Formats: sequence, structure tokens, C-alpha cells
Amino acid sequence: MDQSRRKLLKLLAATPIYLTFGFAGVALMRFAKPSMAPLGVFDAADEPEQTENALFTKDLFPEPWICLEFMYNLKIKVFSPQKEEIRSIPGFILRLGDDQIVAYSRECPRGRGCYLNFVKKSVENCGCATETKECCCSIKVKNPVLVCCCHMDTYDLANDAECIRGPSPARPKRIEVIVHGDQITLGRLESSIV
Ligand code: FES
Repeated sequence: MDQSRRKLLKLLAATPIYLTFGFAGVALMRFAKPSMAPLGVFDAADEPEQTENALFTKDLFPEPWICLEFMYNLKIKVFSPQKEEIRSIPGFILRLGDDQIVAYSRECPRGRGCYLNFVKKSVENCGCATETKECCCSIKVKNPVLVCCCHMDTYDLANDAECIRGPSPARPKRIEVIVHGDQITLGRLESSIV
């Protein structure tokens, strides 16, 4: 009898601790997966969704190395009363030397908040150099490139955006390009991106 009373008292004493861990665990899981329903721990992860599909037409690219800028909008589920937020990522869509149309995010793969610029060929004295910074438009390159002006990491667009200068850990993120006849739309952002 004494034993079972002791067990009951222990259980009652430990209940607040179990409840604290339980509520903290649920909050943590909802932070990681904001759309999670009760008992939905094993449901598929929240994927960012594209909100507006930018539309281009083939006649916007009459020759190789035409590069256009666009904003790519993603709806992201977040742990807040609004439940979601829109994130806009600047990108470039361009026609390559072999006529393929490709699109890249302009976010520098180094992840420090700097943006890539399109440099078709070197430009002398473009005016963007400062006393402490090299000018990213005057970089000497064989092919058109994407260059980050923060530390001059450079990506060769004729070679699948391979990094040809700097210690970049990755290539710029690709955005899927979908061609239907003359119309071009954007699809998914490379998953490692967001
Ligand atoms: S942040 Fe892009 S090269 Fe340094």
C-alpha cells in the first residue's frame, strides 16, 4: 500500500515536468513545420510555394547573351499569426550561347546577402570601383559571367555557372525554366536554395 502511494505521489510530482517537456516539444515541432496538424509529425515537410509565375516570350531573347532581371516570389510557411510570408528573390533569365534559356537566382552562394551581377564583357571605368573595392564590371573574362561585387566570386555562364574565381562553396541556384511554344515561365527554385 505504502509502495503504491509513493508511486502515485512521484507521478503527481513529475506531472508538471512531463507537461512542460510536452508543450515545449509541440511548440518546437510547430516552429519547424508551421502547418503541422495535431499528430502530423510524419507528414511531408512544408515546401515553399511559388506565388506568381513570371511570364516571358521567346522574342525577348532575339540573340544569345540577352539577360533580363525578374523577381521570383515564394510563399513560405512560418510560425507566426500570419502563418506565411512572401519572400522575393531577384533573378536573371538569359539566353546562352547555345540558345538554351536558363534562369538563376541573383543571391550570392556565399550567403552574405550580396547579389550577383551579369557581366557580358569587361567594361573599363564603369564607375562602380571605389578606393577599397575592385570594380566587378571590369573583370577580365572569356565568357559572360555572373559576378558578386562583394568579394568578386565569378561564375562562368557558358559552363553551367561553374565558379572560376573565388572560394564559393556552390554555383548560383538555378530556377526551372518551362517553355511552351513561344511562352516561357518559371518553375521551381533549386531545392537547396531557400
Ligand atoms: S558575398 Fe558574394 S563573393 Fe562574397
